[in-house]
Amino acid sequence: MIKINSITKRYPTITALDNISLNVNKQEFFGLLGPNGAGKTTLMNLLVGYLNPDQGDIHIAGEKVTQDGLHTRKNIGLVPQSLALYDDLSAQDNLDIFGSFYHIEKNLLKERIKEKLESVQLYERRKDKVKTFSGGMKRRLNLVASMLHDPPILLCDEPTVGIDPQSRNAIFDYLLMLNEQGKTIVYTTHYMEEAERLCKRIAIIDFGKIIAEGTIDELIEKLPYDETILITKNQVTKGKIDLLKSFGSVVDEDDHFQLKPNAGFQLSQFFSSLEKNTISYKFVELHKPTLESYFLHLTGRRLRD
Ligand SMILES: Nc1ncnc2c1ncn2[C@@H]1O[C@H](COP(=O)(O)OP(=O)(O)OP(=O)(O)O)[C@@H](O)[C@H]1O
Ligand SMILES: [Mg+2]
Repeated sequence: MIKINSITKRYPTITALDNISLNVNKQEFFGLLGPNGAGKTTLMNLLVGYLNPDQGDIHIAGEKVTQDGLHTRKNIGLVPQSLALYDDLSAQDNLDIFGSFYHIEKNLLKERIKEKLESVQLYERRKDKVKTFSGGMKRRLNLVASMLHDPPILLCDEPTVGIDPQSRNAIFDYLLMLNEQGKTIVYTTHYMEEAERLCKRIAIIDFGKIIAEGTIDELIEKLPYDETILITKNQVTKGKIDLLKSFGSVVDEDDHFQLKPNAGFQLSQFFSSLEKNTISYKFVELHKPTLESYFLHLTGRRLRD
């Protein structure tokens, strides 16, 4: 559905995208994960033809994206990172204007506006000016404003920035429903839990380069370290480090042991051994690698601008 082929985009002082290639399949929920300044918005703007690449090309539904490509605009809805709404107009009037960009037949547009406002729970507030809206309401309106022409592809550039969990969940549920109905979605974020919750496949981008790509499980498998087991001690556990050592390498850390299991470690065997030797414990936690740990492992912890 989306084919990005060796794209490079330079601004005067920086190469924002450096030879990026990516494919997004039809009906996929694809995540583009990256820290500030990684190049996510630049890529979104290239996908809709707002920007021209310096090298490479992009095809959407078989057609090359160009800056005057009407075909692309019909196929794509871009939910921009910065709110693109008229503050002094009502929600309804905003959507009327966005709809007029696409020359949608009047009655159909009216119907769509009603349906979209209802789907993000703003229909009751349709006559209120946007400047009276909360951050979450603005984000929800910003989201539907980009899809009045009912495009098969939706690009969402950090659509949940700065909003509360209720609005965020409403947006998640709505996007998941759209995806189930057949829409292809590309979703940028720096929130790992969002990518994990929403996306089937993700690419991690940093300094304009794709540094990892795959399903979440595939990415987690690439982690350079295994799971860890934390055994929080009680009086009995304290002196029993030798038994734990038969299961892997153990580090004694004040109130708990940290166990890095040997290859072939089985949790059931571990627990039955503790039971057989009547070794009690306060509790045991299994720490599996997460996407967050992978993301930080790949991109490092230094701050970005
Ligand atoms: N119009 C521009 N002119 C010059 N440099 C730009 C321009 N737009 C973006 N950049 C630079 O290009 C790089 C990528 O920016 P981009 O906005 O694509 O990143 P991003 O991943 O969307 O970041 P964020 O998570 O903060 O939104 C950054 O270093 C940014 O400063
Ligand atoms: Mg951005």
